[in-house]
Amino acid sequence: MARRDKSEMAKMSMLMIMMISSMLMTMVDSSRSVQRSRDSEESEIVRRHLLANGLGVTPPMGWNSWNHFSCNINEKVIKETADALVTTGLSKLGYNYVNIDDCWAELARDAKGNLVPKKSTFPSGIKALADYVHSKGLKLGIYSDAGYLTCSKTMPGSLGHEEQDAKTFAEWGIDYLKYDNCNTDGTRPTVRYPVMTQALMKSGRPIFHSLCEWGDMHPALWGSPLGNSWRTTIDINDSWLSMIANADMNEIYAEHARPGGWNDPDMLEVGNGGMTKDEYIVHFSIWAISKAPLLLGCDIRNMTKETMEIVANQEVIAINQDSLGVQAKKARMEGDIQIWAGPLSGYRVALLLLNRGPTRLSITAFWDDIEIPPNSIVEARDLWEHKTLKQKFLGNLTATVDSHACKLYVLKPVA
Ligand SMILES: *[C@@H]1O[C@H](CO)[C@@H](O)[C@H](O)[C@H]1NC(C)=O
Ligand SMILES: *[C@@H]1O[C@H](CO)[C@@H](O)[C@H](O)[C@H]1NC(C)=O
Ligand SMILES: *[C@@H]1O[C@H](CO)[C@@H](O)[C@H](O)[C@H]1NC(C)=O
Repeated sequence: MARRDKSEMAKMSMLMIMMISSMLMTMVDSSRSVQRSRDSEESEIVRRHLLANGLGVTPPMGWNSWNHFSCNINEKVIKETADALVTTGLSKLGYNYVNIDDCWAELARDAKGNLVPKKSTFPSGIKALADYVHSKGLKLGIYSDAGYLTCSKTMPGSLGHEEQDAKTFAEWGIDYLKYDNCNTDGTRPTVRYPVMTQALMKSGRPIFHSLCEWGDMHPALWGSPLGNSWRTTIDINDSWLSMIANADMNEIYAEHARPGGWNDPDMLEVGNGGMTKDEYIVHFSIWAISKAPLLLGCDIRNMTKETMEIVANQEVIAINQDSLGVQAKKARMEGDIQIWAGPLSGYRVALLLLNRGPTRLSITAFWDDIEIPPNSIVEARDLWEHKTLKQKFLGNLTATVDSHACKLYVLKPVA
């Protein structure tokens, strides 16, 4: 049994104390700074926290074009996706970012060095698209790269043009920037990413900054003053192996996630056809409890009932959007069995029982491992069955879990 040992627990409590005291210090600091002039207050905020845009208080939700369409995008697809987010009811559940990925611009900038929307696929331009998306009550995201070319090499990156591009995005009404890491000048991401952060801050429009650095230099350790989220992994693909590998890698950095800055194990593949229904439920459940961005990656205009059942599960979304904003961690592992847990507001706990193996298994979670006081009697809500179990639980909870499947509960102490 690979149980977390006592020293790990002590480290975690120490970390909590440090977090709380640093929050208190920030409060004291900010009350002092009322006396200072507004200018110096602002520069102080920028110094300590380059990205003070107030966004990402809960993980972002929406859609991104890449996983389903890769480079085959145009303004019609983006508009129809915005329409579909509304007509399916997904926008009401919180999915409100419509994010264009790579391949939206001409390879050449204009005479003044501005990015130019690709004439054959985005003839109306991005400003018109933003207006359309905003008219639906949604937000528009765009994509660039901290290099000379984006990963597709079909359009320029923003390296050396950060201020100009950030200003363009702000003028167009862009709400979210995914900033990739291809075709660079060889300098470190810790040199190139802050330049865009500052450019976005100067642009005058709050723009969610998604650092897509792929986890190469552990952006979880330096991303929080620079971005609202940071990729912790290589690109996901529509397979169990890739999904679970990204889940594992992302979990390592759990303690770095917090409101305003989230670990990002990459966008969702639910609905793209490469995994079973149970595997997609595992995918969505882990992303939800990991406080990952919930960015759908399927064709929203053509979703099956099964896909809709998964991504529109309001109880699972509520875990992701919980006000506490604490990422769940692996509490216990044994062979193919994993128990993931994390605290939620109201002294509740999110509990995931995961079977990664080829055969059905019985899985038991002990209060001891998931930070529930030993004598607590707990009520369990099964979020995929949509039912509160009649039995109350003391000390442990056991369930039978199919191969490549999970059970997801919210546990609420009742006595
Ligand atoms: C998908 O990801 C897995 C794990 O990272 C990798 O082994 C596999 O080669 C990838 N498949 C494709 C088609 O890219
Ligand atoms: C819609 O999805 C189904 C699979 O669920 C697929 O067979 C079909 O080709 C899709 N239609 C379009 C227009 O993409
Ligand atoms: C689980 O808890 C029940 C009730 O408290 C107890 O009877 C049982 O022995 C526990 N199971 C295990 C495996 O410890």
